[in-house]
Amino acid sequence: MSRNVLLLPGDGIGPEIIEQAARLLEALNHRRSLGLQLSQARLGGSAYDAEGSPYPDSTAQAARNSDAILLGAVGGPRWADVERQLRPEQGLLNIRADLDLFANLRPALLFPQLANASSLKPELVAGLDILIVRELTGGIYFGEPRGIRTLPNGERQGYNTDVYSESEIRRIARVGFELAQKRGRRLCSVDKANVLDVTLLWREVVTEMAADYPDVELEHLYVDNAAMQLVIKPKQFDVILTGNLFGDILSDEAAMLTGSIGMLPSASMNESRQGLYEPCHGSAPDIAGQGIANPLATILSVAMMLRYSLNEADAADSIERAVSAALDEGLRTPDILTSDTTRVGTAEMADAVIRNLD
Ligand code: IPM
Ligand code: MG
Repeated sequence: MSRNVLLLPGDGIGPEIIEQAARLLEALNHRRSLGLQLSQARLGGSAYDAEGSPYPDSTAQAARNSDAILLGAVGGPRWADVERQLRPEQGLLNIRADLDLFANLRPALLFPQLANASSLKPELVAGLDILIVRELTGGIYFGEPRGIRTLPNGERQGYNTDVYSESEIRRIARVGFELAQKRGRRLCSVDKANVLDVTLLWREVVTEMAADYPDVELEHLYVDNAAMQLVIKPKQFDVILTGNLFGDILSDEAAMLTGSIGMLPSASMNESRQGLYEPCHGSAPDIAGQGIANPLATILSVAMMLRYSLNEADAADSIERAVSAALDEGLRTPDILTSDTTRVGTAEMADAVIRNLD
């Protein structure tokens, strides 16, 4: 059975890291006869430049026909003046909505080899392993009405709507509970139920559902407290479940606890487990084209893709072991370099991972 994997290199460092991740994927494909067919399309600023839209029809067609998608990153200062509906980030929001990729998984896992890279004391983060489950196709990101209007007195007013229906809450909460069952069996739902009605409903629905998962310990935190707890005692968390906006913010915070956002993968999936996989970091235009970007977040995104969308858990494990082995060799891209390690570039880091595949 052949399966289609679509590569979307995107902007900035995206093409460089996707090139390396594709080499690794081809190596595994060959070695393990995975039967993956790779193809490529455009998303973001590069798509806007070439086809006039950040999510062109050609890309949408290819995306709908794929089993899994690997994305580099989108955006950059070059497109800062483009109107909002055509900005690179809009391409990302469009593909999420088009494929109904509501479940966003963002692990914040600290590799023991990098314990000194965190801005927190090593003892606070040693062994850190948090999974953020962020709702990705609803909430204030997509709620209507939205816009900027002019009031009768001539003043402009900007507005957005934070809205979640019960079914949207249920389907993401189910993902959170089920993943908690496979991990440390603790789920922390994050809301602002003391102020926002939309998250009061969120809390009620999640609480009701807990009865179906007696083996999972459920806790609720307000988002301000959750943000604080993440830097005071981050290891108290196992799975964090939250909506689109809070998940955006908390996932950046959690990522930084590990010291390098250059190490963190992510998955965005729909009900049929079709998924878009991408590194948590952005397009880093300041270092684009220099061959120094860390490819490991993208390589680890390939592992998530194999595990969640392609049912190839063994291949996924072998990538994660190979990444750890490359770090054990002391190889580091500049973002994770310390005085006792060896500086390498994007391609050399990927070479080391490919060499360590079993
Ligand atoms: C993310 C990013 C996106 C988001 C932007 C680029 C639209 O910050 O994936 O976290 O806000 O969701
Ligand atoms: Mg973000």
